[in-house]
Amino acid sequence: MIKICQKIHLKNCVDIAYSQNCISQHNCAYCASTKNSIFTDFENLIDDSMSLIVGYFNYDDELLGLFGFYFNHFNNWVDCIGPFFKINYDQIVTQNMFEIAQKTLINANRFNFYFNIKNRNTHDLMLKLKSTKRDNEYILSINRKDYIPLKNSINIVNFEDKYSNSIISLHDDSFKDIYVTGQNIVESSGINRKIFCALNSKKEFVGYGILAFNITTNFLCAEIFAVKKEYRNMGYGWSLLNQVISCGFNNYNCDDISLVVDKLNTKAASLYYSCGFKLIVENESYFYESNL
Ligand SMILES: CC(C)(COP(=O)(O)OP(=O)(O)OC[C@H]1O[C@@H](n2cnc3c(N)ncnc32)[C@H](O)[C@@H]1OP(=O)(O)O)[C@@H](O)C(=O)NCCC(=O)NCCS
Repeated sequence: MIKICQKIHLKNCVDIAYSQNCISQHNCAYCASTKNSIFTDFENLIDDSMSLIVGYFNYDDELLGLFGFYFNHFNNWVDCIGPFFKINYDQIVTQNMFEIAQKTLINANRFNFYFNIKNRNTHDLMLKLKSTKRDNEYILSINRKDYIPLKNSINIVNFEDKYSNSIISLHDDSFKDIYVTGQNIVESSGINRKIFCALNSKKEFVGYGILAFNITTNFLCAEIFAVKKEYRNMGYGWSLLNQVISCGFNNYNCDDISLVVDKLNTKAASLYYSCGFKLIVENESYFYESNL
């Protein structure tokens, strides 16, 4: 039987997701890796009237599988978390769980899927749903001990309101199809993001770099970088990245900083490798546009 999970199912949902998500073949990259973080995220899914977890139960009402759906209120996109099965993956059940989510989340206009390249079941589901493939993404990470701070001659400053419009227009020009807008970024400055701006010799804005942080989960991410086209290949991106890394390691009790880069964005990837980032995992990324 397939039904929407309630608070009483939370612990079982977390146990199944935690046990399955660490296996590459079953991994969903939207799912957190620690049990506490999964618990917090799943509790939010159940509490939020726009998000949900769909469960698959046997006749004894024992939970056998689940599929989570996080509704993003900024853009009406839904991040799909799972599916996770206690024992055997079931494609038909997965499709039925997804259909229930589609019918329930009537305001959703897009469902995103993001999973380890070794997860063949979700890959096959994407083909079945005729989802749109996006570029694969690399997760890179740098450890504190691998970072060698080098002297930086470029003027990098902390975010101030006067740079807001420049950041918004550079961001929205550079990234057409991304989970955050320039406006979101500027509004989240100091809350869960620290923004740095690169200035040219005339102290004009030429680019920005973002350190995203979550103090509760001890997570740091060198999230987004962009430099105006006419100033690229002059070392601005490198300086922004170094500032972001230094800030992360100097101000937070965290040994690793991660980031996500599109596989085909070789320019950005080579910049990250040059500072000491290493490849951790390759994920597939798809989206499905609801037509119900
Ligand atoms: C990716 C991006 C931010 C890079 O910025 P940039 O200012 O052009 O990059 P840089 O000039 O700092 O780096 C260029 C190269 O010089 C190297 N470099 C620059 N300064 C250096 C220094 N002081 N010491 C050592 N290496 C340096 C970098 O490693 C990089 O190596 P490469 O030649 O193999 O590419 C820029 O191309 C951009 O805005 N792209 C569009 C948006 C985007 O894709 N962002 C990334 C995803 S979030």
